Amino acid sequence: MRIAVVGSGYVGLVSAACFAEIGHNVVSIDNDPDKITALERGEVPIHELHLSELLDRHHNHRLRFSTSLGDSIRDAEAIFITVGTPQSETGEADLSYVESVAREMASALRGQQLVVEKSTVPVNTCDSLRRALVLNGAPSQSFSVASNPEFLREGTAVVDFLYPDRIVIGADDEFSRTVLSKIYAPLANGTYYRQREAIRLHNGVYDRAPIIVTNAKSAELIKHASNAFLAMKISFINAVANISESVGADIQQVCAGIGSDSRIGPKFLNAGIGYGGSCFPKDVQAFRMVSEQCNYEFGLLKEVTKINTEQQRLFVKKVQSALWTLRGKKLGVLGLAFKGETDDVRESPAIAIVNALVKEGATARAYDPAAMRRAADLLPKEGMTFASNPYDAAVGCDALLILTEWREFAALDLERVRRALRHPIVVDGRNLFDPEKASRAGLIYYSIGRPACMPDRSLLTGQEEDYAATSHRIESPLSAGATS
Ligand code: UGA
Repeated sequence: MRIAVVGSGYVGLVSAACFAEIGHNVVSIDNDPDKITALERGEVPIHELHLSELLDRHHNHRLRFSTSLGDSIRDAEAIFITVGTPQSETGEADLSYVESVAREMASALRGQQLVVEKSTVPVNTCDSLRRALVLNGAPSQSFSVASNPEFLREGTAVVDFLYPDRIVIGADDEFSRTVLSKIYAPLANGTYYRQREAIRLHNGVYDRAPIIVTNAKSAELIKHASNAFLAMKISFINAVANISESVGADIQQVCAGIGSDSRIGPKFLNAGIGYGGSCFPKDVQAFRMVSEQCNYEFGLLKEVTKINTEQQRLFVKKVQSALWTLRGKKLGVLGLAFKGETDDVRESPAIAIVNALVKEGATARAYDPAAMRRAADLLPKEGMTFASNPYDAAVGCDALLILTEWREFAALDLERVRRALRHPIVVDGRNLFDPEKASRAGLIYYSIGRPACMPDRSLLTGQEEDYAATSHRIESPLSAGATS
């Protein structure tokens, strides 16, 4: 089919590349000429597994790029809107980019075309989009509007697109249902997975994508409610982790116990320094605003955000508690991105934590495999340096902090880390290491929701032994005043 994708950000670009991959002719449109020129030259603007491969494979065959919205959508059978919906000052989703696309495309629509909302939007946006198109001159019989929310995670977006848990088709008429079903047919009937060149799933068997057909409003709600639920799961486990740490339990054992209940499931139960990124913080907020507009006080969502912010503050307190005071302390920092395997630093808890620590008078030496360039603009100019590898970040530091769950950090040689550090202290905000291993490597190891771990005494120098002997207990996250 002929598909236009309006907006070449991470959702738009990945969707365009994947639509081409499953056999459609696609034009990816953006109003930023520099972005389009870079894509034309073969540059890939985001750090996304398999994306370069797909762009290489399809660019100038089934995929092209354009800055011209009107010309590009004229022949398209389906036009996907994937522009940003940032948070406005009031917390609501700012739909001005969606509206401006609607205004621009209205005059180019010319019969039997489907406009699909794929950006994360509040419920009722399809209705508003329909109205905006008509108001701006599109004949109402010339188009249909549907919702087809995305569930792509940054870093694994290509695989998430091609091997989805579900595809949600939110359609209010037969035409929309038929067009969207045709578009996703290669995934729904499994023909894509039998192709020799298909992107493969590394583990697991997968033969066809489940399709859920709903009306447009339900599809819009599914997206907001899914993100809010996932954020709630993280805040819930972080709250439990704080209790676990306080009473000397182990949150990972607790999670194994909770997650093996099939009604709960083991995923998204990793305790840490809280969620970040361009989606969860803004979507929880926007969903709360939707509920307010329905005159419903969704207090649970307020609490989800509160616990998340608090989790960062508790981590700063934990570092301080491990080091007694922060002023003048040199801290190694591993990870700046909002999560592992991405260069995205938007709403990254790591950035908020580094800023807070430097504000308290510490200096930081940070390393991130992909996010350092983007992070530099959001970090202090004074008191901050960047390292060339994880061990370099630890050299001469009073403690090493783990702030992002990069796989490469989980594989670090902990003895080498210890040799690089001035004091053998690791404060792990992502629970990447096995406490026993950390202990055997001679580290004083603090993590989230697990007891602090002292080094194997036989590995310590006399001075380190004295230090470890005085470091047994740091303040529990729930000790008096810690959560105020
Ligand atoms: C999220 C959703 O997972 C996607 O389904 C959705 O499509 C996307 O938002 C979106 O709305 O566009 P993403 O923001 O890429 O995807 O990131 P996640 O992998 O969901 O992680 C979000 C944050 O939660 C990260 O900061 C991560 O470190 C944190 N997290 C995740 C935890 O702290 N614990 C966990 O167990 C899982």
